[in-house]
Amino acid sequence: MNKVAWITGAGKGLGRHVAMQFAEKGWRVVVSARTASDLYTLQSDCQAMSGEIIPCAADISDESRMAALVETIERDIGPLDLAVLNAGTYIRFGAEDFTVEKFRDQIDTNVMGTVNCLAPVVEAMKPRRQGRIAIVSSLTAYRGLPMASAYGASKAALTNMGEALRPELEQLGITLSIVHPGFVRTPLTDKNEFPMPFLMEPDTAARRIVQGLERGKFEITMPRRFAYLLKIGRCLPYRLYFAITRRMIGS
Ligand SMILES: NC(=O)c1ccc[n+]([C@@H]2O[C@H](COP(=O)([O-])OP(=O)(O)OC[C@H]3O[C@@H](n4cnc5c(N)ncnc54)[C@H](OP(=O)(O)O)[C@@H]3O)[C@@H](O)[C@H]2O)c1
Repeated sequence: MNKVAWITGAGKGLGRHVAMQFAEKGWRVVVSARTASDLYTLQSDCQAMSGEIIPCAADISDESRMAALVETIERDIGPLDLAVLNAGTYIRFGAEDFTVEKFRDQIDTNVMGTVNCLAPVVEAMKPRRQGRIAIVSSLTAYRGLPMASAYGASKAALTNMGEALRPELEQLGITLSIVHPGFVRTPLTDKNEFPMPFLMEPDTAARRIVQGLERGKFEITMPRRFAYLLKIGRCLPYRLYFAITRRMIGS
């Protein structure tokens, strides 16, 4: 029997490349995003691969839809071996245009959207005492960065949640990983007008994710050099850290 994966946000960018790599390895990959046409394009692009792409258009912010989708996958396609909870968005705004609405949008999609998927996946995997889950966070989770107060907070919430859950899920036989990408060339970052250090190609980033999952790693980071730099940044006292972030916004 081919293994079954569910990848959210697989219509574009990182999720699309992760889905392609699992399909290449012979997995049956359920791909979701809101734009159905992206999913069907992915399906036709992967037709020659040994695995299968199964499109399911759905919005991760719809809690009952996510629960129903997991139920459908388990019933009609097979028990989920892996879920990659990758769907997310970045709304760029700073202190001058800080609003409740923008902050809530970011948290609703990135945090609650992920949780809407995570809860039914854990419920499905629990009785079998096996399964793997990856949550796509970001290197911005490490420390507050300018113009990313909501995005960074949403990703820090995912990373913190993952740290809390890893040992608890282990007791249930489920392996949880957190993915911390730096800048990856995708439609999300194509909008950025600022320099993006260590920008990676999405197929390379996806390969790192797949390898990290195969090794059962908790933290999957990329690119390594950027991750090391930001990890060092975590240890800086605030005086030094703010000297750097002030320069980033030109003050
Ligand atoms: N690219 C980077 O440099 C980078 C760095 C760090 C972390 N990340 C994280 O990596 C993940 C993927 O990013 P990406 O760069 O590949 O983004 P992307 O190119 O914008 O693709 C995002 C995918 O998620 C889907 N999506 C967005 N909101 C959704 C929703 N509410 N429900 C269902 N699907 C939704 C989008 O499709 P629809 O709009 O059709 O729904 C699309 O298929 C995100 O969590 C992002 O925060 C990216």
